[in-house]
Amino acid sequence: MKVILLCLLLGAPLRAAEDLLIADFEGPDYGGWTTTGEAFGSGPARGTLPGQMPVSGHLGHGLVNSFRGGDDATGTLTSPEFTLERRYLAFRIGGGRNEGKLALQLIVDGQVVRTATGPNDRPGGSEELAPGSWEIADLAGHRARLRIVDEARGGWGHLNVDQIVQTDRKLPGVLKDARREFTATGRYLNLPVKHGAPRRKVTLLVEGRKVVTNDIELAPDAPDWWAPMDIGPWKGRTVVLQVDTLPEDSASLASVTQGDAFPGGGDLYREPLRGQFHFSPRRGWNNDPNGLVWFRGEYHLFFQHNPYGWAWGNMHWGHAVSRDLVHWEELGDVLAPDDFGPMFSGSAVVDWNNTSGLGQEGRPPLVLIYTAAGDPTVQCIASSTDGRTFTKYPGNPVLQQITGGNRDPKVMWHEPTKRWVMALYVEKPAGRHTVHFFTSPNLREWTLASITDGDPVGKPYLFECPDFFELPVDGDPARREWVLLAANGAHAIGAFDGTRFTPRQERLPGHRGRGFYAPQTFSDIPAQDGRRILIGWFQTETRGMSFNQSMTVPLELKLTATDDGPRMTFTPVRELESLRAASRRFDGITVAPGGANPLSGLAADLVELRAEFEPPAAGSVTFTVRGAPVIYEATTQELVVNGHRAPAPLRHGRQRLILYADRTGLEVFASDGLTYVPMPFQPQPDHRGLAIEVQGGPVTFSTLQVHELKSAWLPH
Ligand code: FRU
Repeated sequence: MKVILLCLLLGAPLRAAEDLLIADFEGPDYGGWTTTGEAFGSGPARGTLPGQMPVSGHLGHGLVNSFRGGDDATGTLTSPEFTLERRYLAFRIGGGRNEGKLALQLIVDGQVVRTATGPNDRPGGSEELAPGSWEIADLAGHRARLRIVDEARGGWGHLNVDQIVQTDRKLPGVLKDARREFTATGRYLNLPVKHGAPRRKVTLLVEGRKVVTNDIELAPDAPDWWAPMDIGPWKGRTVVLQVDTLPEDSASLASVTQGDAFPGGGDLYREPLRGQFHFSPRRGWNNDPNGLVWFRGEYHLFFQHNPYGWAWGNMHWGHAVSRDLVHWEELGDVLAPDDFGPMFSGSAVVDWNNTSGLGQEGRPPLVLIYTAAGDPTVQCIASSTDGRTFTKYPGNPVLQQITGGNRDPKVMWHEPTKRWVMALYVEKPAGRHTVHFFTSPNLREWTLASITDGDPVGKPYLFECPDFFELPVDGDPARREWVLLAANGAHAIGAFDGTRFTPRQERLPGHRGRGFYAPQTFSDIPAQDGRRILIGWFQTETRGMSFNQSMTVPLELKLTATDDGPRMTFTPVRELESLRAASRRFDGITVAPGGANPLSGLAADLVELRAEFEPPAAGSVTFTVRGAPVIYEATTQELVVNGHRAPAPLRHGRQRLILYADRTGLEVFASDGLTYVPMPFQPQPDHRGLAIEVQGGPVTFSTLQVHELKSAWLPH
């Protein structure tokens, strides 16, 4: 015993003895461990408990998880006595961080001699258990107990523990604020990203000043993909990447490279699940389109972007431009999270009269109006005179928090009152969904004008991302109506006097498909064009890719008179026709039930199909495109798109369909645009044939066109 003790003290064991397992919590109960209180239940948890974020990082199935009964449950779990006889005591620990109230404690002679707590002390975070250890050589030979304490209530009021072992092997330590310094020579630092890796807080510092912090699943070893971090603005200066906690043996920081290109960039836009004529970000996640505006000859598409992850987070405004709404060039992020919070959705306007004073002589500014979603959540602006470099307004915020759920400002110039109008989503207590209207002479000072309530009879329809615009009915400039549109496409049609919106009809449905959200229309499209063009977030999940989600094709919105009042129509913009590579027309063809497929022999990856026909009274017409059936049912006057039903009334006895098929989804337009069915869908690569079948009687197609489309990204 004396020899071992001496060796342990000198730090030179004769030979590393085998590890001694104290507890792996794989059994049905805690064995000899004793509990008090409720938090630990009668035995180990098998992973995640009800209502908990997914727990990971434990070994096997069982672990100690004091979320039993939720965060408010408290209690203790104490081990039987054992002898300390190795150099280290190692464990895995996760959950809340609270040195006093959430602890794994080592107790010798009634005294707490070592203690450890979890990593999380604010909302968000991760339920992942990470390795921890104590050096205990000085205690060798002592009898000890372990006690797990949960006296914490409320957010992160629980602790997770697993795999407690005595060992002689030194485990890699954890570095706090690990740093790596670079002299900025390239455009990007390329960061290794891996799904499911622990989320680290990664801060970029330039000459000692903090620029931005992002939560990144930094790959400790081989990454799934590389996320480029733009350091172009700091060329020649010293930039530092700082990671809040990093295991000593992690390769994450060491593997970061610098360059003008990013690894994998050579395959850009050739990826198997890359939509070929739907915008998607080069890397990372997108959700809402933001700041849609026409400025100095270009359409600008900003978007909710996580540049450093495949899922939502780290909200930046990404940026892309196009001259034709079809070919987009992604330029890089223009708004990054700051001390006001992450950059949530918003809009853009051209301030033609420089009311904001943010422009220069002869150069009206492009002004972005966005939500900074910190605590408080406030509205801010940023501006640019060249459409490339954007500067946040030093007087931000321009609108203080109304409630924590206020966001997504959509601004427009109201010519009759000669001032700016903002529609802002404001979630009120008890889940009331409202749109607040504000007015401003200069985009910097805003006054509340009125409140539109989206909950008059219970079910909300004005939820998030309002858009607000005026449209003529059937193109008649003398008959104009205002449309207040919400994130799910639901909308109201009514009148606006510059202050208050008075709906004539509300709760009108928008799209009739799936995976469509948070659409926005372009501001400042030149009057001679006069179109109202909308892009929505197309929720196309692309697993295994280094990007995720996309946008719908640009859609033209119109109001058309119906017996029920004016209704909104959606049609794909005509510019998409420039993608046609090969066209076949079968106008006038008749297809009989059981007859030959008029499209046999045709095959395409990317398809536009147009058809106009009178369906048989009680029959159906089925188009099969990329393996997905799109059926028009005459009896129900419904369209069934890959199994999903949508009402599609005949118009003057006829049906007119437009169908676009990309690698990530279908968009189908019927009933002269009254029915728009977006449908995320991944065709099998070899399902390229096209077919038409009819039932119930022969069908003559006055129009039948099939266009094979080119990629909007790749040269041809
Ligand atoms: C809608 C939304 C917005 C918010 C943004 C954050 O999808 O929740 O309300 O501004 O996404 O990314």
